[in-house]
Order: sequence, then structure tokens, then C-alpha cells
Amino acid sequence: MIVHIVGNRPQFIKLAPLYHELQRRNYEQCIIHSGQHYDANLSDIFFEELGIPQSHTNLQVGSGSHAEITARAMLGLETELIKLAPQLIILYGDTDTTLAGALVAAKLNIPTAHVEGGIRTYHKDNPEESNRVVTDHLSDILFCSDKASVECAQKEGLGEKAFLTGDIMYDTFLLSTGKESQKVQEDIILMTWHRQENTASKERMESIIRLIRRLEGNIVCPLHPRTQKCLKNYGLWEDIMSIKHLEIIEPVGYLEMTALMQRARLIVTDSGGVSKESSFAGAKCLFMVDLDVWDDLVKSGWIWKVNPECEGSIEAALSFAKAAERVAKEDRPQYYGDGHAAAKMVDLLEKYSYV
Ligand code: UD1
Ligand code: UDP
Repeated sequence: MIVHIVGNRPQFIKLAPLYHELQRRNYEQCIIHSGQHYDANLSDIFFEELGIPQSHTNLQVGSGSHAEITARAMLGLETELIKLAPQLIILYGDTDTTLAGALVAAKLNIPTAHVEGGIRTYHKDNPEESNRVVTDHLSDILFCSDKASVECAQKEGLGEKAFLTGDIMYDTFLLSTGKESQKVQEDIILMTWHRQENTASKERMESIIRLIRRLEGNIVCPLHPRTQKCLKNYGLWEDIMSIKHLEIIEPVGYLEMTALMQRARLIVTDSGGVSKESSFAGAKCLFMVDLDVWDDLVKSGWIWKVNPECEGSIEAALSFAKAAERVAKEDRPQYYGDGHAAAKMVDLLEKYSYV
């Protein structure tokens, strides 16, 4: 029995191709959902759209501080994993759910594979960084999305267990795309905004609102509930709603999201996943956090980093945004494999007798 541990929106998207590949090869598997994300449009919709069975255990950890989420997930996971006694656990990404899974699996001596291993920002104040470091060090095999991740793993002495598989989100993207959004008729600016770094202070949120005001073009923004709540708590909701060229919508499912990405001439985001997907979809990306993510995309000029609190940085970002146009398929960068990451992962699990 193989157990997948997930709990957050991007993890359901990463799970789908690997779940289907293991199913194709007839492995017995089970999904444990921590319940860290619980709104239907942050959870259920992805299972429905991506054909992943809903018949999993949901630990219903809900929201809270990092310690609360991690601790509640650990308690629930320990009980379930003792019952299931799996031969392998698969962890995804860098959330508190991932960390809980890594710690419990290690204490129960269950072998663990980490999808998206080796990613580092080297910023200790980034809440996901400690989750990545601990998960990689405790896992038995790391599936790396790009060469930069393999190199980061090597620097920490994890090279022997780190394998370049390509990025599993590219598998999902290729399996799910094709349709353009029916909801918008022209090229748009697509925006997402949810990180702790960008929602924890009123000043930071105000600076992002000022950036939005200065961007030229129609912006569509499926807004994470965390951001919506913080804007309301800081008394900024009316301010943002008054921006005529900004349309705030509820979070969308993956199919609508990829359709929107394929109508975008520019993506403005603080999401690790969306900034990388921008290169799959052909829209350049303005990245609103000072973190070193997706090195190759930054070096090649696909991703432009902006500090919304610095006028010089905003000026440069606005020039980048103005010049951004949709990029044809053949001119898009190709740093994240060939869309068959899931098959490579299962090949490795078989080769090293984890399954
Ligand atoms: C979490 C991950 C982040 C990931 C993101 C994906 C951690 C440390 N953070 O951030 O790495 O990029 O998921 O989207 O694990 N909320 C709802 N409904 C929900 C879920 C959350 O309203 O279904 C609200 C709650 O007010 C909650 C807040 O969003 O307090 C934050 O949720 P949380 O899961 O703690 O963090 P995310 O920002 O979603
Ligand atoms: N996404 C989605 N609907 C939305 C916003 C994002 O389907 O309204 C998808 C997006 O395409 C990507 C993933 O969710 O595949 C990214 O999740 P998120 O930005 O929440 O997390 P991060 O990648 O920053 O961890």
C-alpha cells in the first residue's frame, strides 16, 4: 500500500498525475487529506476535475498557526498510518501538511518520497523553507523538478537520493489544457496573491494595491480566502474594490485557472506554482516576493521580481509589464522536463524497490 499525504490546493494538482500513473501500474494506494484546505473551491473541485477519488481519509485539521496545523496533522496522521502500515509515503511540496507527514513517517520508520525535493529559497523567514529542509532531510528519495533543485540537494549532502524527474505540475498542465477561458474575451493580466509575506502587514498590502493601480490592462484576480480576509481586517477591501481595471473573483478550479493563464499576456503573482506555470502557458511573470525561486526563469528574464515597497523596483516592473506579450509555444522556456515526470518517478520507485 502506498499512501499520498496532501492537504493544500497545489498538492492536489501535483498528486493527480502520480496517482493515475500508479493506478495504471496496478499499485494499491490511498490518499490522506489533512484538511488544511477545506473550502470546496480550494479542495473538492480539484479532486472532481482531475479524476482523483474522494474516498480518502480527511483529518480536518483546518486553519490555525503553523504549530497548530502541523501538530493536529501529526496526531491524525500517526493514527492513520499505524492502521494502514504502508510500504511507502509520498509527500508533496512544502506546506505544513508536508512537514507533518515527514515527521510522522520518520518516527514510524516508513520510507518516504518527496515530490518537489531540493527547492530552496535560503530565506529562513519564508515559512515554507523549514518545511522543505526538514522534509528533504527526512525523506528517502527526492524527485527534483529542475537541475537547480538537484544542485541544492547536492550542496546539503543529499545528492545520492536526489533524482531529476522534471516537474509534475507540467504533467498536470499538459493533461488538462487546451481550452481557452470562455469568461474573458481579450488578453488579460492574471493575478494571484496569497503568501504570508504579502498578507501579514497592512503596509505591504497597501503597497501591492498601489502596484495594481499602476498596472495597465484588465486584471483578473481569483483571490485566495486568506488575502480576502486580511484585506477586510485591515480596512482595505473598499479601496481595492474601487479599482476599475481589477476584477476580483472567487478562487477558480484548475481547468478555469489554466484557461485563464492561456488568455493572459502577463501573470502577476506571489505563488510558487503559478510563477512556474506561467512558462508552460506562455505568459511572462511579475513575481511579488523577494525570494529566489525558479532560478532559470529569473535568469532568462521570464520572471521579473518586483518589490512593491520600492519605487525604483516598481518603475522597472511597470516597463516589464507594459512590454509583456503572449509567447508562442516554440519560444517558451523548457526547464521543467517533458511532461512525463510521474512515469519517471514510478520508474525510480520500482528500480530502488520502494514499491
Ligand atoms: C498554504 C501553505 C502555502 C501554500 C498555500 C497554497 C503552509 C505554511 N502554507 O498557505 O505554502 O502556498 O497553502 O494555497 O502550509 N482559508 C480558508 N479556507 C481554506 C483554507 C484556508 O478560508 O480552505 C483561510 C483561513 O483564514 C486560513 C488562511 O486562509 O487561516 C491561511 O490558510 P493556511 O492553510 O494556513 O495557509 P495558506 O495561505 O493557504
Ligand atoms: N490555482 C487554481 N485556482 C486558483 C489559483 C491557483 O487552480 O484560483 C492553481 C494554480 O494554477 C497552481 C496552484 O493552484 O497550479 C498553485 O497554488 P497556490 O498558488 O495556492 O500555491 P503555491 O504554488 O504558492 O504553493
